[in-house]
Amino acid sequence: MEYTTLGATGTTVSQLCLGTWRFGRETGGVVETDRESAHTLLDAAWDRGINFIDTANVYGTPNGTSERFIGEWLTEHDREDFVIASKVYFPFDGRGEPGPNDSGLGRKHIRAQIEGTLERLGTEYLDVYYVHRWDPQTDLEETLATLDALVREGRIHYLGASTMAAWQLTKALWTSDVNDYARFDVTQPLLHAGYRDDIQAYLDVCATHDLAVCPYSPLAGGFLTGKYERTDDDDPKAFEGPDGTRGTFDERFDKFYVSERGWHVLDELRAIAGELDATPAQVALRWLIEQRAFTCVPIVGARTVEQLEENVGAVDVSLSADQYDRIGDARYDGTGTRWGH
Ligand SMILES: NC(=O)c1ccc[n+]([C@@H]2O[C@H](COP(=O)([O-])OP(=O)(O)OC[C@H]3O[C@@H](n4cnc5c(N)ncnc54)[C@H](OP(=O)(O)O)[C@@H]3O)[C@@H](O)[C@H]2O)c1
Repeated sequence: MEYTTLGATGTTVSQLCLGTWRFGRETGGVVETDRESAHTLLDAAWDRGINFIDTANVYGTPNGTSERFIGEWLTEHDREDFVIASKVYFPFDGRGEPGPNDSGLGRKHIRAQIEGTLERLGTEYLDVYYVHRWDPQTDLEETLATLDALVREGRIHYLGASTMAAWQLTKALWTSDVNDYARFDVTQPLLHAGYRDDIQAYLDVCATHDLAVCPYSPLAGGFLTGKYERTDDDDPKAFEGPDGTRGTFDERFDKFYVSERGWHVLDELRAIAGELDATPAQVALRWLIEQRAFTCVPIVGARTVEQLEENVGAVDVSLSADQYDRIGDARYDGTGTRWGH
């Protein structure tokens, strides 16, 4: 494993982060990654040098299950070896049906959630605490003052921001700056080879202010691994894939990950993988690791140890400047128009 400094923070992380969104998550009555598989994946990640773990209060059924699985695993490990990130914002059902104060970025919810998160993880502090989304209902200063106090109390080392508009991120950085609050140092957007220019302004803010970027769904939910095949030239949403994979049971998959542009990018990833004796997944992840304008640490969401092993192989792949550019160029047709997403 190779390690990198997380943007402007003083923390060193592996070039890949382990995502735990599917830990304890029930879909159609089936738990996607149960406790035993979660612990096997955590073992495999740690064996391969991954020291960065991403979770959220709302991951798992009920919410909090992912954090609990990680906390149980950590009892057999030295917490100081790990950089652990969690999140707050979405309605939390871990206490039953969410009430009016069980979501958002108000002081009451953040204070309650950080306590639950630390308890489930069995840790005194979080390395990174993300706001999972922007909260239009809560005054930004209340949110940032609450998060700043948690940093000063030593419960959080660094603040992070997940998906939001570039102006929102800029406004938050400015508000922290003028109030002398801790700022968002780490970001977590949806970002992969087929989806980049769409958030160009957000990424420009990250590059300008030296914010680390930790892309979520870096393989477009598995689409960019190349295991799905198009079945209709006229319909980009028509595809088939192996039984039991996310594309075959998750409604979000078609909407977020499968597109005309995605197929074109996948063709290029496949071609470059052939040139490098690598796999499309490794090339897609490597392209993120090699981002030129900002520190980029993809959050891989492997479901099996074999998938994780393949993904970790991205660390040993190297793209030429031409190969790096070809992946970006594949998003556009011959006339310079971006393929639809
Ligand atoms: N901030 C946010 O709003 C947000 C949103 C989403 C995710 N996240 C974070 O980002 C992490 C990663 O997201 P993601 O799970 O969508 O990431 P992803 O890496 O794009 O997709 C992961 C899925 O792709 C398939 N896969 C992965 N590696 C593979 C391989 N080598 N070969 C074949 N299939 C492979 C597996 O699904 P199948 O086996 O089912 O095909 C796996 O569950 C999450 O765990 C979470 O921590 C954050």
